[in-house]
Amino acid sequence: MLPGGAAVKRPFHRRLWALLVHCRSMNLLAGKRILLGISGGIAAYKSAELVRLLRAAGAEVRVLMTAAATGFVGAQTFQALSGQPVYCDWNDEHDAMGHIELARWADFMLVAPATADTLARLAQGRADDLLAAVCLASEAPLAVAPAMNRGMWQHPATRANVSLLRERGVHVWGPAEGEQACGESGPGRMLEPTELLQALSQSFASGRLAGVEVVVTAGPTREPLDPVRFLSNRSSGKMGYALATAARDAGARVTLVSGPVALEAPEGVERVLVETAQEMLQAVLERMEGCRLFIATAAVADYRPRHPAQEKIKKQADELVLRLEPAPDILATVAARTPRPVCVGFAAETQELERYAHRKRLAKGVEMIAANRVGAGLGFDSDDNELLLVWEGGSRRLARDRKSRLARQLVDEIATRYFPRSGEEKAAGHHAKYSA
Ligand code: C5P
Repeated sequence: MLPGGAAVKRPFHRRLWALLVHCRSMNLLAGKRILLGISGGIAAYKSAELVRLLRAAGAEVRVLMTAAATGFVGAQTFQALSGQPVYCDWNDEHDAMGHIELARWADFMLVAPATADTLARLAQGRADDLLAAVCLASEAPLAVAPAMNRGMWQHPATRANVSLLRERGVHVWGPAEGEQACGESGPGRMLEPTELLQALSQSFASGRLAGVEVVVTAGPTREPLDPVRFLSNRSSGKMGYALATAARDAGARVTLVSGPVALEAPEGVERVLVETAQEMLQAVLERMEGCRLFIATAAVADYRPRHPAQEKIKKQADELVLRLEPAPDILATVAARTPRPVCVGFAAETQELERYAHRKRLAKGVEMIAANRVGAGLGFDSDDNELLLVWEGGSRRLARDRKSRLARQLVDEIATRYFPRSGEEKAAGHHAKYSA
């Protein structure tokens, strides 16, 4: 099966693209030794599919289950799919590898699903069951795919455990939002097997942003005037989507926070759809943990109606006065945080590009501004653009080109300046997981 599910009829270019992404995953994972830890949650059934996908991609997989996990899916299922003995408790070590051997064997460890209890136990460094002990003993990079009820995920105890794990270099993949087995809806769903496959394969990518978590904003915002009308702009989202794609191709894990646009989410990129500037700010701030690069391409409203009407505004007088207030500045808000990711902003100008770009960089407090001239077939709704990149003490002009090619050049420039090669190797997973 292809990422995203081949059963769904999709346009030819989308299927071709999915196939290319799939092939890329196959190459990157071929021969890799993946140790998959499974803890006790209903999402364990998805891990069976993950094992199948990993094997199809050429990886060697060994499965380790907590006692609670075997209550959801039998060890035999994983044994059949992985073609290897499954480790459920210490006794299994006599039949196969010991826990230290197993810890050394892995190129990468993924715990999926990772329950709230498992995250707490990993954060504490417990070693009183086989899964926790192997995580503690292994020097391989470790990722967790949380899966739990939304209240458990949002509880301060879980938040603190996740922060601690991130600080120690553990990758936290997901969770996604949506309907949950408990009947509630919210954050806590384990990522889909294809998404985990993609994340794993990117961990082995040697791209210039390998393993770097990136958040990109794109598209316009809509600021309601009343229940049926809004203030918005002509942003197509094309530049932001091209950047999300370029960052993904450079090996980054990309979240795209997008206003309403007519574009499909790039394969392998997590997209969060929002409407207002406030929603965009909220979505971005919720994804700042672990984020190392923030690229703000969205054409966020500068002003929004101060008092959106609850009912549709009637046509009455000759004149209608709208009272506007400033909308939150997402880029400046992120740039003012500590710690904060590397921040890159955009500036659309009609004149004096360089002077305004430098001024905007300082005003927003960001590392880099990509300025573009708007008007006359350039900028908002066009497939082409030209950019002037400015940073402290320097600038570079990117000549008029397709947005997809400009995006690749911009990502290259960002990687060269702020994510030099040693950092890439570290992020690519060739490092001890507890390095800072
Ligand atoms: O201030 P101005 O709108 O010219 O700044 C443009 C840059 O700031 C872009 O990167 C845009 O995405 C970001 N921005 C923002 N929130 C706003 C306004 C702009 O993130 N409210």
